Amino acid sequence: MGSASSEKAHAVCVPFPAQGHMNPMLKVAKLLHSHGFHITFVLTEFNHRRLVLSSGKEAVRGLSDFQFRTIPDGLPFSEEDATQDIPTLCDSTSKNCLPHFRRLIAELNEENNNNDSRPPVSCIVSDGSMSFTLDAARELGIPEVLFWTTSACGYLAYNYYRHLIDRGLIPLKDIGNVNDGFLDAKVDWISGLMKDMRLKDFPTFIRTVDANDIMLNFLVQETLRTSQASAIILNTFVDLEQSAITALKKLLPPIYSIGPLTLLSRNKILNESPITTITSSLWKKDDFCLNWLDGHHDPRSIVYVNFGSITMITNEQLLEFAWGLANSGYHFLWVIRPDIVKGESSMLPPEFIEETKERGLMVSWCAQEEVLMHPTIGVFLTHSGWNSTIESISFGVPMICWPFFAEQQTNCKYACMEWGVGLEIDNNVKRKEVEELIREMMAGQKKGKEIRKKAMEWKESAVKATGPDGTSLVNFERMISEVLLRNK
Ligand code: UDX
Repeated sequence: MGSASSEKAHAVCVPFPAQGHMNPMLKVAKLLHSHGFHITFVLTEFNHRRLVLSSGKEAVRGLSDFQFRTIPDGLPFSEEDATQDIPTLCDSTSKNCLPHFRRLIAELNEENNNNDSRPPVSCIVSDGSMSFTLDAARELGIPEVLFWTTSACGYLAYNYYRHLIDRGLIPLKDIGNVNDGFLDAKVDWISGLMKDMRLKDFPTFIRTVDANDIMLNFLVQETLRTSQASAIILNTFVDLEQSAITALKKLLPPIYSIGPLTLLSRNKILNESPITTITSSLWKKDDFCLNWLDGHHDPRSIVYVNFGSITMITNEQLLEFAWGLANSGYHFLWVIRPDIVKGESSMLPPEFIEETKERGLMVSWCAQEEVLMHPTIGVFLTHSGWNSTIESISFGVPMICWPFFAEQQTNCKYACMEWGVGLEIDNNVKRKEVEELIREMMAGQKKGKEIRKKAMEWKESAVKATGPDGTSLVNFERMISEVLLRNK
């Protein structure tokens, strides 16, 4: 082995195989690359194929010091080009991926023996929901950082699942209906979370009567395993989530808040760097919508609607949103994923299309960060996925929140009640409420105005955290020197 190769650090980055996990992990990988790391980015075979289809071979070609490798996800081969079922995927990756991952690491180190330019694997950065990777790190005696791609408040709530079980609060006695009151029970005893948290504000995998529920058990197992990591990184910043971060620090290995990654990576990765050709988008982005936005000139005049990569809605809900948007009178950009409507393709009535043809654009996927930073966007109607939430905060866009699942409910609670940047839509969505909330957020002179102002304040705070001497930038560099390079 040549000395140059033994000097360079080699990080193996392992995202959970879903869009909301791959995007922030790719940013971490690119940032490490910009700090001189050799990178191996591990995709599942299924997502590798999807990435080639959606973004072209260029996206996964890599560079000499940034390569893609694959492992199987353990599920039967599927030609279908759609979102995979999350509980099935969690179950399968946790049971099946470790031997494949071990073999991959052995191959990478074997290649190193034959090839001077590729350094041996020196650290692992893995998604918190892929904790099987910890076994490989332990066997090799190398550090492993776990990346929980959630908010700190959502992650803290997951950490208390086992305590909710111990107290007999979950599994639920009766699932009932979300609005029935079963989930209204106050949970005011968790240090670091808002004192008026209710069960319904916890990540939704508690909404089960089954003690053997896959997701409930998966989250208990994965949060417990986190204590074996060398450190944890979170895509958030100190000013935004001070209480939750402080509480997590008392429970777990060193925690580094390094977000918003969208801003940190924009500051640190040069536009002309060849690394920018690498993307992680599982759907083909519609570039026309950015031109369409450019064709508008009034700042903050357009409503942006996007429910992320996993949300499924009914055709009735689709119609309520459609007529709410139409009746608000505002221009809108609405991203409707091809598989968003359960069991059928989306059906929008011709009257709606006719009525909104001058002011509405519907596409199936977009470059969300570019949309959110566009000056014409006035409000984001979102499912409160953490990436969407932190991206919206990064660009000062207030939110209308309609959480679907996972810790989106917790993100929504914080966005609306703690950070003051959002308004929530009732789960049982009605067009009138959609219309009213849009009007309030776009032009309201009391609540709306206050929220718009708050959104700008949080944006400034996020920019500061990721700028020179900002907490997230300093934490990122400390995480590298204190953890990833500690054996170097
Ligand atoms: C979900 C949860 O919301 C998240 O909090 C959880 O940890 C993982 O599962 P998802 O539905 O994918 O994730 O939403 P979100 O977390 O918002 O991530 C979506 C990502 O895809 C964002 O980075 C967003 O910018 C990107 N995106 C989305 C696009 O680039 N284009 C689109 O049209 C839609």
